[in-house]
Amino acid sequence: MIKNYCNLLSYKDINKNVKLCGWVQNIRFLKNIIFLDFKDCSGNLQLVILNNNKKLWNLSKSLTNQSCIKVYGKVNKKDFNSIEILVNKLIIFNYSKLLPLDIFKKNSEKIKFKYRYLDFRNDKVLKIFKIRSKINNIIHNFFNKRNFLNIETPFLNKSFNEGSKDFLVPSSFHIGKYYSLPQSPQIFKQLLMIGGIDKYYQIVKCFRDENLRSDRQPEFTQLDVELSFIKFNFIKKLINKLIIKIWLNILNVNLSRKIKIIKYNDCLIRYCTDKPDLRNPIEFKNDIYKFLIINKILNDNIDNIILYILILNNNLKFNLNDFIIFLSNKNLYEIIFLKVNDFKNSKFIYEWSYNYWKLSDDLTQNLLFYLKSSINCIYFILIGKILLYSYLLEIRNFFCNYFKLFNKEKFIPLWIKDFPMFYYDKFNKINSFHHIFTKPKILNIKELEYCNDYTKLLANSYDLVINGYEIGSGSERINDYILQKKIFSILKINKNIMYKDYGFFINSLKYGTPPHMGIGIGLDRIIMLLTNKDNIREVIAFPKTTSGKCFVTDAPD
Ligand code: AMO
Repeated sequence: MIKNYCNLLSYKDINKNVKLCGWVQNIRFLKNIIFLDFKDCSGNLQLVILNNNKKLWNLSKSLTNQSCIKVYGKVNKKDFNSIEILVNKLIIFNYSKLLPLDIFKKNSEKIKFKYRYLDFRNDKVLKIFKIRSKINNIIHNFFNKRNFLNIETPFLNKSFNEGSKDFLVPSSFHIGKYYSLPQSPQIFKQLLMIGGIDKYYQIVKCFRDENLRSDRQPEFTQLDVELSFIKFNFIKKLINKLIIKIWLNILNVNLSRKIKIIKYNDCLIRYCTDKPDLRNPIEFKNDIYKFLIINKILNDNIDNIILYILILNNNLKFNLNDFIIFLSNKNLYEIIFLKVNDFKNSKFIYEWSYNYWKLSDDLTQNLLFYLKSSINCIYFILIGKILLYSYLLEIRNFFCNYFKLFNKEKFIPLWIKDFPMFYYDKFNKINSFHHIFTKPKILNIKELEYCNDYTKLLANSYDLVINGYEIGSGSERINDYILQKKIFSILKINKNIMYKDYGFFINSLKYGTPPHMGIGIGLDRIIMLLTNKDNIREVIAFPKTTSGKCFVTDAPD
């Protein structure tokens, strides 16, 4: 008789002798019968113990919830299409004390994660990790099929400037010296490209000592990918295929094969963030501003913010006052609407809530032609002085809620490309937008010599965003040591530090480095989306507290 699993047994096994190992979830004692809700790692079944075998009956009476047992029995018909097990032998491996948490109810975060090993006995929790495991397999199959090499890179590293703080590990051989845990395998995957491996991937732990958020953990998992001799389009298609495959296999959801791609600057104007959640379909547009400039109604004055939201619906009921009250809280923008009611004799019949620029009928007609209007267009126009993306994002969300446009079910991925190469932080220090190995979009290095505003330079970098989460990020890498040195000098990395910390890397670029690019994908975030969780902790087996402590062991100590 082989060991069985709850979810492998079915109606067709009735009368078969089986053997199951697992845990008692609940016990109901009746006069001459005991019902046990039983679970193993595959699922649940009801066990039935009759009072016709004294030894079995007495042993069963001693059981406590969550005791670990083995039973022998016969599959029995329970009702129309379900089964139960009629037990004829019981072995108790271990009794359980009363659990410190109720695994079937919502527990406090602290208790839930302190006793995470017991939390796993909840099927819903276990399901998350079954999905995680399945995704790992899908990824390995996907890349193996395409001849990628899966290569492990070291954890005990040197410290590289990757944007966050490093976790340090003291060396006992080299007293006073420390290894850094990798924030990502960035440098090593580039060295592999130099080594002639043109397709690399790895599912790898990354470590960052940074402020935690609902989608950040200090120890998280990346799917790390790097390729030589390809262009962005290749990576985009490859990752699109993978994402589509994962969504289909895990959720049976068909993602659109045409995943949008947008430039960073357009993304900010349209969605007011570089991580837009496109389930909110509202976009800001700025061509009314362009029209007013072309027609000299406005001077090209950067102080004028004129953005609008277009809603397509001629039966729309709304009260402009609701928007005015919402906007007046922050006093940044005025709002007016322009509504197209009809189109007759080649003319639009329209309605302004307030003709702010006192546009003549001719100009309004021209404007509506310019905007390619139709009779179901309503333009909500914001006029203001300050471009505050966080506030505009609130407005987008307000409109979306007001008109009930949010699509809760959908997953909408989006690629964003052409990020800035550099930015200045609050201390006016220049930094890389992606990382220091990213290649700028320039024709030759001279463009850098003559550049007087580094923030205007674009990088050949890209992000993948799904439903407002940054899922992945990557770039083309510098493969020329002179350009790499130039970027270090723009970043004001001191020459001594440059040679001490990155000398080996600059040197490595001198030996026939291929053009290469790659991406790091946040696996935990993908699992959050697929399991509909809004905190990354839920999808990590043993996560850390907000202050970076291990809930279970209390590390660090
Ligand atoms: P980046 O730093 O953007 O790029 O990271 C890539 C992706 O990793 C995920 N991620 C995180 N997930 C959970 N917790 C965190 N603390 C955390 N930090 C990042 C995000 C992010 O998009 N080496 C480059 C990649 C490359 O250029 O190839 C890198 O690590 O989903």
